[in-house]
Amino acid sequence: MSGTINKSAKIAVLCGGLSSERDVSLRSGKNCFDALQRLGYTNAQLIDMDRHVAETLIREQIEVVFLALHGKYGEDGCIQGMLEILGIPYTGNRVAASAITMDKDMTKKILRAEGLPVVPSVTVKRNGSSHFPPELFESLRFPVMVKPATEGSSIGMTKVNERPNLDNALQTASTYCPSVLVEEFVTGKSITVGVFNRNGKPVVTPILEMRTKTEWYDLEAKYTEGLTEFILPAELPDDVTRAIQEMALKAHKAVGCHGVSRTDFVVDEQNRFYILEINTIPGMTNLSDLPAQAKCMGVDYDELVECILQTAVN
Ligand SMILES: Nc1ncnc2c1ncn2[C@@H]1O[C@H](COP(=O)(O)OP(=O)(O)O)[C@@H](O)[C@H]1O
Ligand SMILES: [Mg+2]
Repeated sequence: MSGTINKSAKIAVLCGGLSSERDVSLRSGKNCFDALQRLGYTNAQLIDMDRHVAETLIREQIEVVFLALHGKYGEDGCIQGMLEILGIPYTGNRVAASAITMDKDMTKKILRAEGLPVVPSVTVKRNGSSHFPPELFESLRFPVMVKPATEGSSIGMTKVNERPNLDNALQTASTYCPSVLVEEFVTGKSITVGVFNRNGKPVVTPILEMRTKTEWYDLEAKYTEGLTEFILPAELPDDVTRAIQEMALKAHKAVGCHGVSRTDFVVDEQNRFYILEINTIPGMTNLSDLPAQAKCMGVDYDELVECILQTAVN
């Protein structure tokens, strides 16, 4: 289906849902809904996704779904698959790209195969026994970052400075997901780059640096006011900036993203950069990264929402 969405279309903004990122999603959804109203989409409604969402969409005769869900069931291909079956157009990424990028290990495998830079890591799977043989990690240099393959918001992650502390971190991460990444820790900058469709073509946002007062950009730094400073655009040499932006677009294409993505990177002290992960439904709260990045390139919040809305049909 292609074309434009009518101002009188019955649009459902789906938010909330069943994941650990429910609260952020409720805020993303409310902000997107308010923007749609300001844009003149008079038949938009806000729906908190639950297990009866299919019935609700049918009952309300929804014609387009605006996805503002994060995490499990919302960002992982599940809701996308359901909407494909119902035949309702929806914003952003389709089933495969959503499912792939939900798993950081799978994402890295694809990016690596495409020749894109990722941080060296080893992936271990919990298999009943709680002991991971130390020889598995011989190829890695400490410190390392231990993270569950399928969580977000820095949940279940630990920075491990010395080998004896590795086991505890593995246990913590594996309570969230059986697949755990042990990744070399890159000292330097944490940055993120957005991509979204404007007039049907993907455009790349300026780079945002998250500079934190904590040891790394953890859960506390993400959600405690004043702990993280945002530098937008990031202070990097022009050629490095261009190369990173180009890489964000390549990553978006490599995993088959459609319409919108936000790729997180780390940049070391020599300005070498590595992709950490790709987010397929970036946060859309008034404090989120993508709206700030769009604003920095002259696209205000409402215009960004309009761009994302049009990805349902283009
Ligand atoms: N290997 C690493 N080296 C340095 N910092 C890291 C590394 N992995 C993650 N981080 C930091 O932790 C943050 C969250 O990690 P990320 O992989 O993006 O997971 P998520 O955002 O899904 O929780 C990153 O933005 C970065 O600041
Ligand atoms: Mg991230």
